[in-house]
This record gives sequence, C-alpha cells and structure tokens, in this order.
Amino acid sequence: MIIEFSKNLKEQRIYANGDELANVMGMDRDERGCRVYSYPAEQKILAAVFKNPVLVTDTAKIGKLAPGLRDTIFKLMESPVKTTIYDDVSLNFNQKKYAGAWGPSIDTLLFCRALNKISLSAAKTSVEIGAGSGFITKYFLMKNPQVTKAEMIDLNPRAIECCEDNIKDSRASFTSGDGVKFTQGRKFDVIFCNPPYIPRPKSIDDNPYEGTGLLEYLIRSARDLLNPGGKFITNFSSLSEKDVLEVVKKTGVKARKIDSMTVPLKVCSVLNNKKWVAYLLKHGLKKNSGKGYDFYHKITIMEIGV
Ligand SMILES: C[S@@+](CC[C@H](N)C(=O)[O-])C[C@H]1O[C@@H](n2cnc3c(N)ncnc32)[C@H](O)[C@@H]1O
Repeated sequence: MIIEFSKNLKEQRIYANGDELANVMGMDRDERGCRVYSYPAEQKILAAVFKNPVLVTDTAKIGKLAPGLRDTIFKLMESPVKTTIYDDVSLNFNQKKYAGAWGPSIDTLLFCRALNKISLSAAKTSVEIGAGSGFITKYFLMKNPQVTKAEMIDLNPRAIECCEDNIKDSRASFTSGDGVKFTQGRKFDVIFCNPPYIPRPKSIDDNPYEGTGLLEYLIRSARDLLNPGGKFITNFSSLSEKDVLEVVKKTGVKARKIDSMTVPLKVCSVLNNKKWVAYLLKHGLKKNSGKGYDFYHKITIMEIGV
C-alpha cells in the first residue's frame, strides 16, 4: 500500500501496489489466462483520493465510502509494509518489524510542510531527537544538499533500524539511546524534534505520546545546543501549549509559530485510559464527536532561534 500526500497536504492518494494488485485488486490473470500472484512493488493503481486529510489513516472517512471501496481500503490497510510519500520523499514502514516505533503520521508530514517555510540553507549539521521512522531527517537531507552531517537518535532501537533501512545517505548517522545524553556538550545548526506532547501527571517520557519533559528540556537547553544562528524546530499540541509557551517565555528564546493543523486525537492507548482522559478534559481537551472522532487537538510547528 502506498499513501501519497500532495505538497500542501490538501490531498491524500491511496494506491494498491505490488502483490496487492493480484490479491486485493483482482488482477490475478495474465493475457494468456494464467494465474498471476505477484507484481513488482513499483507497479501501482490508484484506489482512493481523500481531500483535506487530517490523519494518515482516517478510519472515519474510510468508513463512509461505498462498501466495496471501504473494504478495499481497509484490506490495503492490513498491508505489512506501508509506503508513505510526501513531496517525492518516500519511506517504507513495517509496524511488525519495527515494533513500537512511530511511523510517519500527520504531524510528521505537517512538520515537513513547515520545513518549506523555514530558511535552512545555511545548515550543515543536524540532529533529530526521537527520529521515529526517520522521515523528517530523510526529507531534510533530500531537500538540503549543503548538509554534511545529519544524526538521528531514538530511545527505541527498532525505530533506528527503520531509519537505517530507509536512509541510504553517507551524511546520515544513527544511534539508539537517550537524545538528552547524546546531545549534551555538543552543538548543531539544526535540531529537529517531534516530541511526545500529550500531558500526563507523573509522565514517564519513554512513551512516544506521553509528557512534555523532553520538549521543555530542549527549549531550556536550546542556547547550549545550537550554534550561532541555529534553529530548534519542534511541535506541540494545543493540550500542552500553555505549559510550552510558559517555558518559552521564562527562557527568553525567540519562538515563531510556523504552521498548524487541527487533527483528531486518535491514540487508543490514551483514549481508553479513563484517568488520563479525565486529566486532559481538565486541561483543554474538548469533546466534539460530530466529525467522526470524539476529540480533536491542534498541532503547532514552532521554530526557536538563539
Ligand atoms: C512523536 S514520535 C516522533 C517520531 C518522528 N520524529 C516523526 O515525527 O515521525 C516521538 C519519538 O521520540 C522518541 N523519544 C522520546 N523521548 C526520547 C529521548 N529522550 N531520546 C530519544 N528519543 C526519544 C520516541 O521513542 C518516539 O520515537
């Protein structure tokens, strides 16, 4: 399955590819009437187009399709390997192989869209803390030939395996471990971090969704970690905005909002945890079931300069 987004993120195209052409799309005989099981991964056919996507996998929108198409898309969603394409950059993600790793999501793509609104042409060195699948750094490398070194680190070794499998670029380097320790005493031209951003009392920040500790630490440390003229590019949720902007104010760094999108909060491990939801409801989460999801939040991409 291939999920391709237009550069402005106003359109999402879902393709069946490879063997799915035979076993989902019914192309199972050749011109001589012989059974066909297999097709090259590059061979694809368009299955559906969604306007104004707010998720990579929008189950509510898919559920509204005519039954045959709905079931086709749900079947394609079962593909072990999903290829995400944005602005000619493509990444293969296999959730089973990269267990617990964060695959390209709507905030990953919003992050990449925002990179087009930031001048990065002077950047030679970068680090991505919490690289997940590696999509953001892959995008940055492909669009910035002047970059000489792009490092990626993630707590999850499977995430780093995904980065290594997908980024064949001699400028890239990969480390599994804690990004806070990894960057201590070092400086970079650009730091990327799409961090955990959902507040939770007594949060343990090794969960990709939970807590704002990493983000707050990086804002406080931006001056120490960035070269002169350097940039820290990150994002937060409307659920953590108040806390994050307070740290920005206290620290006195220059912050600029670059892009934003209101998206469903579709994280089952959060939504099925009644205590956590009760906490979030007191921190600005609002119920709004009308558009297919119970809860929405706004993601904002922010640039911090020193
Ligand atoms: C929201 S995901 C973002 C993944 C990817 N950058 C993207 O945008 O698709 C956050 C990632 O941060 C990682 N992470 C959280 N705390 C970290 C830390 N202290 N050091 C390194 N990685 C961390 C998680 O394992 C997770 O992969």
